[in-house]
Amino acid sequence: MTSSLDLFRNVFLHRNNGRPPVWLMRQAGRYLAEYRALRARHAFLEMCESPDLAVEVSLLPVEAFDVDAVIVFSDILIPLRAMGAPLDFGEEGPVFREPVRDDAALDRLGDLDPATGTPAILETIRRVAERVGGEKAVLGFAGAPFTLASYLIEGRVGSRGVDTLMRTLYGKPDFLRRLLERLASMTADYLEAQLDAGATAVQLFDTWAGRLGANEYREFALPYHRQVFERLSSRFPDARTILFVRDGAHLVEAMAESGARGLSLDWRVSLKAARAAVGDDIVLQGNLDPAALFAPAEDVRARVRAILEDRRGDPAFIFNLGHGVTPETPVESVRALVETVKSFG
Ligand code: CP3
Repeated sequence: MTSSLDLFRNVFLHRNNGRPPVWLMRQAGRYLAEYRALRARHAFLEMCESPDLAVEVSLLPVEAFDVDAVIVFSDILIPLRAMGAPLDFGEEGPVFREPVRDDAALDRLGDLDPATGTPAILETIRRVAERVGGEKAVLGFAGAPFTLASYLIEGRVGSRGVDTLMRTLYGKPDFLRRLLERLASMTADYLEAQLDAGATAVQLFDTWAGRLGANEYREFALPYHRQVFERLSSRFPDARTILFVRDGAHLVEAMAESGARGLSLDWRVSLKAARAAVGDDIVLQGNLDPAALFAPAEDVRARVRAILEDRRGDPAFIFNLGHGVTPETPVESVRALVETVKSFG
């Protein structure tokens, strides 16, 4: 029997000749009753910082749907908190109480030593790897510098998106570059520690980079992706790395220059066109619209099958959503999605 881990490894060797492996961004979240029950008793940050709780939450989607990969439970903003940026998770999402908008604020941030600053995610990876690592892929992750900078600069990202970040990019580009440099070096250390702890692969989330035009992406996001991936591949020549950019249809070719071995694309991209654009040497991951999970289960199956048919025979494809599972998503839709991928022959 080919295990989930074999499928995942084969994808990165570009020689998977079976069904694609499947996992979902935000697969361990509020749409699961078991998650909500734990959250009723514990604050989100407490859950991220307790390996006992984080291991339990990370494994919920394996127990519920037998997904092929376990993404470790944490948040992209946790290492920023460990660098000294005061962070709250309120009803409307994360808030940095002291936004970082100038050199003085940046100088107040400390460096990150992952072993002492973010021990919980490393311990969670070790324990999840111990529990299921022989069978399942274990995924670590980090936010990309541009997206981390967006939260630090905005303080809170509301309905106006990343306006303050964009004003900073055009008004104080030298400050932004300094911030991105600091974040890139921290992120490389952070992901290196996750690979050392036993992650099968790591994904870099650049949720906000799709806000940029291609030239600005090449100036303010791509160089930092490259720094991170170059560091990882110099330490681990075979490191499995994935870059996610939301709204990145216009950036696919530039993303392929990041050094990531896989690209996670959203539903605005045709996977066929992306494959033609980037060639055969890159893993593709995606790309069902998470909103499609609100269709009746039969329609969910049909939409999943359409993607599977499109990628039939692609030896380097991972099934995922184009962005995270949303809190109101019906569990039955997620079950239908995973079953459809797993029974595809
Ligand atoms: O994918 C996973 O299941 C692993 C864990 C994970 C979380 N967040 C858990 C989480 C991962 C990989 C993330 C990434 C993340 N966090 C991103 C990048 C990907 C993306 O979704 O765009 C970003 C931008 C964040 C920052 C963040 N964290 C926001 C904007 C929010 C609020 C919105 C929301 O969905 O609640 C969070 C909170 C958060 N992160 C929750 C979870 C399960 C919900 C917290 C709760 O229980 O209240």
